[in-house]
This record gives sequence, C-alpha cells and structure tokens, in this order.
Amino acid sequence: MPSVEIIIVAAGSGLRYGAPLPKQFCELAGRPVVMHTVDRLRHIMPDANITLVISRDMSDLWSDLCSKHSFASPEIAFGGATRWESVRNAIAAGSPEADIIMVHDAVRPLVTSEMIDSIKQAMSDSDVDGAIPAVPVTDSLRVVGADGSSVSIDRSPMRAVQTPQAFKAMLLRKAYSMPYQDSFTDDASVMESAGFGNLKLTKGSPSNIKITNPGDIAVAELLMKQNELSSQL
Ligand code: C5P
Repeated sequence: MPSVEIIIVAAGSGLRYGAPLPKQFCELAGRPVVMHTVDRLRHIMPDANITLVISRDMSDLWSDLCSKHSFASPEIAFGGATRWESVRNAIAAGSPEADIIMVHDAVRPLVTSEMIDSIKQAMSDSDVDGAIPAVPVTDSLRVVGADGSSVSIDRSPMRAVQTPQAFKAMLLRKAYSMPYQDSFTDDASVMESAGFGNLKLTKGSPSNIKITNPGDIAVAELLMKQNELSSQL
C-alpha cells in the first residue's frame, strides 16, 4: 500500500468571505469548519498522515479552539501569502517518505469516501501523475472581454475542479521547487506547469462545496444532515 500524506490548507485570510474570522474557523454544526474537514479525512483514510497548514497569526486561536472542542490537532505547518506558498511550506515540513501527497482545501468539509475511492483507483495506474476530482459545469458560461462585452461559450467540455487532488509525491515536490506563477490556482496547475501533465480526472461530488460566501455554511449544514440521514437508511 502506498503511504499517503494529506496536506490540508487552512492559511487563507478569507477576505472574500467578509466575516471577521477566516471562513475555515467559522462554526459549522457547532465546530469550526476545519475540524469537520480533518475528521472526515481521518475517518476515510485512517492510515494517512495529515499536516494542517494555518497562518502563524492564527496559532493561538487554533490552540484555544482545540482545547475548547477537545480536538487533537494534526501536525501543523505555517502558511504563506498565497495558497502556493502554504502548500510549498507543508511539503517542506512533511514526511519525505510519502509515496502520494493529497492536497485538500480546509474549506471543503464534505469530501466523500466515493471521491477518495475514485482518486485511489486512478493513482493505482503507474502512468498517472495525479488525480483531480471534477464535476460538470451546470451554469451557462460567458467569456468577458476587456471592453465588458461578452460571448456565450459551450459548457459541455468544461469541468469544475475540486480538491482533494492527489499526486505522486516525488513529482509534486519537484513541481513546487519551481518559481511561483500568478496562473496557479490549484496544485494541478503547478504540476502541469512543471511538465507533469498526466493528470486523470476523477469523479467529484456536487456536495463537496467550497465554503466561500456566508450562506455556504447553512448549505453545508443541510448537506451534512442529509448525509447523516442517508447513512442511517
Ligand atoms: O482563497 P482560496 O479559495 O484559494 O482558498 C482555498 C484554500 O486554500 C482555503 O482552505 C484557504 O485557507 C487555503 N489558503 C492557504 N494559504 C493562503 C491562501 C489560501 O492555506 N495563503
């Protein structure tokens, strides 16, 4: 069995969210979002080693939250100004022995075991450099020009990409040793830019939402309740 290191990135400032606290520390069903995310991955992959990336400024808050909720923190790495820097710091702090590194956004607390099965299956092919969960796009899409005009585009070949994304650890380490580019929005884009483009799309989940806006917490709570109910059937 390949050894898996999971990096959960939680060092964002959450500025888009507009709340006083970064969105990963906001309460969801009585506990901070990030605790749900960690527990979910611990449950699905009990043998994996988890590194949690938080901002240095949040380390006292995180200790307080762990005490308050009797939560055993994973190993901590400190993040940077960009997501790329946060992942790079965690790779440097993590175990050099891992065969596979998975990177997951703390703000996606609803990752499913089906998604992880699909990722593991894809990674069992030795030719594959990485596995990227994705879902079809349901909104109509338009490309906007510099003058504000826009044209509709065909959405059928488009996919929305989620996390966790999994990669051969050796290749991800190499990819993260290259310089930063503004075009990096996820780890797949970092891998591709380094020439490791054999990335297989796997089945994402529409319920694996990324908590971005305040209303998303309420949606995540509903989805969690729905999951609990369906697991009782
Ligand atoms: O802001 P964005 O949508 O890219 O955030 C995705 C994830 O990356 C969040 O969980 C956020 O906390 C994390 N992140 C980070 N370090 C940063 C920026 C974002 O760990 N500097």
